Amino acid sequence: MKTEHAPAILRADYQPLAWQIERIELHFHLDPSATRVTSRLHCVRDVRVPAGPLRLCGEDVELLSLRIDGAEPESTRVVRDAVGIVLHLDGDSAEIEIVTRIDPSANTTLSGLYQSRGGFFTQCEAEGFRRITFFPDRPDAMSRYTVTVEADKASCPVLLSNGNLVEQGELEGGRHYAKWVDPFPKPSYLFALVAAKLVALERRVTTASRRDVLLQVWVEDGNLDRAGHAMDSLMHSMRWDEETFGLELDLDRFMIVAVSDFNMGAMENKGLNIFNSKYVLAKPETATDVDYENIESVVAHEYFHNWTGNRVTCRDWFQLTLKEGLTVFRDQQFSADMLGRMAEAGGEAAAASARAVKRIDDVRVLRAAQFPEDAGPMAHPIRPDRYQEINNFYTATVYEKGAEVIRMLHTLLGAEGFRNGMDLYFSYYDGQAVTCDDFVDCMAEANGRDLDQFMNWYAQAGTPRVKAVGSYDAEGRVYTLTLSQRTPPTPGQPEKQLLVIPVAVGLIGPDGADLPLRVAHENNAGATTRVLELSEVEQSFRFVDVPFEPVPSVLRGFSAPVILELDEDDARLAFRMAHDSDAFNRWDATQRYAERVILALAADAAAGRPLAVPDGFVAAFRALLTNDSLDPAFRAQAAALPSEGYLLERMEPADPAPLRAALVFLMRELGSRLADDWLKLGDALAVDGPYRYHPADAGRRALANLALRYLAAAEIEPGLVRARDQFERFGNMTEGFGALAALVQSASPARKAALESFHARFANDALVLDKWFALQAAAWRWDPSEEPVLERVRALMRDAAFSLGNPNKVYALLGGFFRNNPAEFHAANGSGYAFWAEQVIALDAKNPQVASRIARSLENWRRFAPALQARIRPELEKVAAAPGLSPDVAEIIGKALGNEG
Ligand code: TRP
Ligand code: ZN
Repeated sequence: MKTEHAPAILRADYQPLAWQIERIELHFHLDPSATRVTSRLHCVRDVRVPAGPLRLCGEDVELLSLRIDGAEPESTRVVRDAVGIVLHLDGDSAEIEIVTRIDPSANTTLSGLYQSRGGFFTQCEAEGFRRITFFPDRPDAMSRYTVTVEADKASCPVLLSNGNLVEQGELEGGRHYAKWVDPFPKPSYLFALVAAKLVALERRVTTASRRDVLLQVWVEDGNLDRAGHAMDSLMHSMRWDEETFGLELDLDRFMIVAVSDFNMGAMENKGLNIFNSKYVLAKPETATDVDYENIESVVAHEYFHNWTGNRVTCRDWFQLTLKEGLTVFRDQQFSADMLGRMAEAGGEAAAASARAVKRIDDVRVLRAAQFPEDAGPMAHPIRPDRYQEINNFYTATVYEKGAEVIRMLHTLLGAEGFRNGMDLYFSYYDGQAVTCDDFVDCMAEANGRDLDQFMNWYAQAGTPRVKAVGSYDAEGRVYTLTLSQRTPPTPGQPEKQLLVIPVAVGLIGPDGADLPLRVAHENNAGATTRVLELSEVEQSFRFVDVPFEPVPSVLRGFSAPVILELDEDDARLAFRMAHDSDAFNRWDATQRYAERVILALAADAAAGRPLAVPDGFVAAFRALLTNDSLDPAFRAQAAALPSEGYLLERMEPADPAPLRAALVFLMRELGSRLADDWLKLGDALAVDGPYRYHPADAGRRALANLALRYLAAAEIEPGLVRARDQFERFGNMTEGFGALAALVQSASPARKAALESFHARFANDALVLDKWFALQAAAWRWDPSEEPVLERVRALMRDAAFSLGNPNKVYALLGGFFRNNPAEFHAANGSGYAFWAEQVIALDAKNPQVASRIARSLENWRRFAPALQARIRPELEKVAAAPGLSPDVAEIIGKALGNEG
């Protein structure tokens, strides 16, 4: 019932509901192609709101019957419209019974009720519940749910829903049922049901208030040996939320279910989190250190939603960042604390470094995914004002920039002030559906601080530029740092307001040590990092008693999601690479220097000039790499070049071919000129003993694998031997896949055999094969005589393990190619673009949410070189004209073509 030209929904149009559904009783008669859903709604008029009808949404559901207070209603009271059914009710309460029929086996959208490997699963956020039954499917409609699930016992022995299990039993014909009651009111997007053949890993734990609760991780039979890390992560998350925010699990039972076919990472359904199996299953032989880390953070994220999202939810979908930005911030803090705590055994510096590495990871994601979004046609504030399809707004902006906005509040108010604001928020709004203003108002009230100007972060799109200029007055021993701000226009927002930007600053003396920061008329001279608050167009900050001209270190810890404009010559960057006491900024100095070198190489490549890497860069890079006082994980971050996607964003115009030529050249130069260092590192970093997920070990493995990458790129024979050897010994997936990746990202003739043996070994392991697909999709061509990667991708689509219906496969192979292989995707002959259009159209017919994500890989097409743009436009137009295009893809393509603001 969605139309192709979906009208925009506006935040300003919000109207409260005239009717609330206090209770809902659901009965599911599960059947693959004809599931019957009976829903009984106990409705009451909200007397505080102007009178109006009860609006029920429904999509792809067949209405079998509808009764109001036990009787068939007069036809004038029941009006069908484009969204569903409008009911005109008398009186102040009504009981409505609705019977619908749906076909889970035909549901390839993975939204609503669908089947995966013989089981039944739901996904209701944002608007999937309306694909199950007619209901006011919006987050401010909160109800108490009682759910009875009935299914065939042999194929679906496990029947789960939200809350507590209150009854179960056998039925005729090999069927059985279970009845669940969720004691907490919730919006429909948090409803969940699972009926499948699964087994559970169980733990009983005691909460802070000494309640016993049951934790379960449900997986397919045969995967129990991969559920332990998710369970540990859940227990750590519970403890952390109790200790950090005083928030405790409120149910007697908490369940996690892994499913193979899932559109996103995971879903926080009340008491019944459903996860993409990628974020649950791990054992050392099949999962890498990065997988372990991701599982820990996604488990935490969904668990933390129980308070930030479920107990206090969103009034409308424009407020999405209220729960997502805050919950991402919470999971980032949790992971940093966990990593820091584990690393503590190695000393305080090791703990600080582990935390910094986590921060670097988070900022890498922000820069690679959110900055481009904020600079393109989809740019939107963390709280958008309009959308056509809400599924398109589960974005890096709402999540990652949203988390940065919360982090700035934390920085401005301090940990204690922030906690006080959180406490106030729960005391006011527990059990309610609220707005971002409500949240920020609590922070303001708890801290006695005016945050009106800060709210501009919620209203404004675009990445702000902060310019920093320093000047030193040797006679007066005064150092003045002048900061200014500017946010470039974005679609629909030509003028920008001033923001409140916390800028953490330090000053480094000539010996490399931080100078104590002293501001006139202030006595505290101890601090070496200060947070300056920039709230005007331009402000100058004076530091007194500065004995020498310092080197400024600005935006320490990435204290705000901005682009810092600071003029630094190569020598300054090298100096900060060697001395900046702020690990984040030290890393950032290496990235800035590398970016400068790479973009210069790319310009030379484009102009056909000979390429050369400056000695100064190699020397600074080597000094950092071989500095054994630095933790290997940090060195791995510093020695990894900025991502191709990020570099394209910094290029004007974006031109993938010369950029790739620059990267190939630089990898080979660094590989060969530092070959001895890489080889030595490899020896020194070997991790003995059985695999354990631990930041110290993970850091060593990361740096050793990076060493292999550089050695293989440069075809250094002892390095290639080591890669083959490590691949053959294959102790754990981090080492095995690291070796495979090094071989594949090189011209080594051993590539082909290694890929084949890997495939044979993991032929039955879908998650491991995803890595295999993704690696090949993103492979560079080290030898121009090789076939284009597109040919390989097409061949891989015919592999028995590939399926367009499985999002993980699509993201690995197609996403891997479109997102992680710009030089091959943007081939000059346009072959990549034609393939893109073909796949977007094919995917859209099955799964609009996945199609739309894939479609987004060309949204920034106007940044590319004119010859490429000329080949992209007709493909965008081809997709735009495809019959039956979903509103999801239509919105993305429409914005890319500039048809709507
Ligand atoms: N709320 C989920 C989270 O942040 C993500 C989510 C939103 C989602 N929509 C979804 C997951 C659709 C799967 C499918 O954790
Ligand atoms: Zn979330």
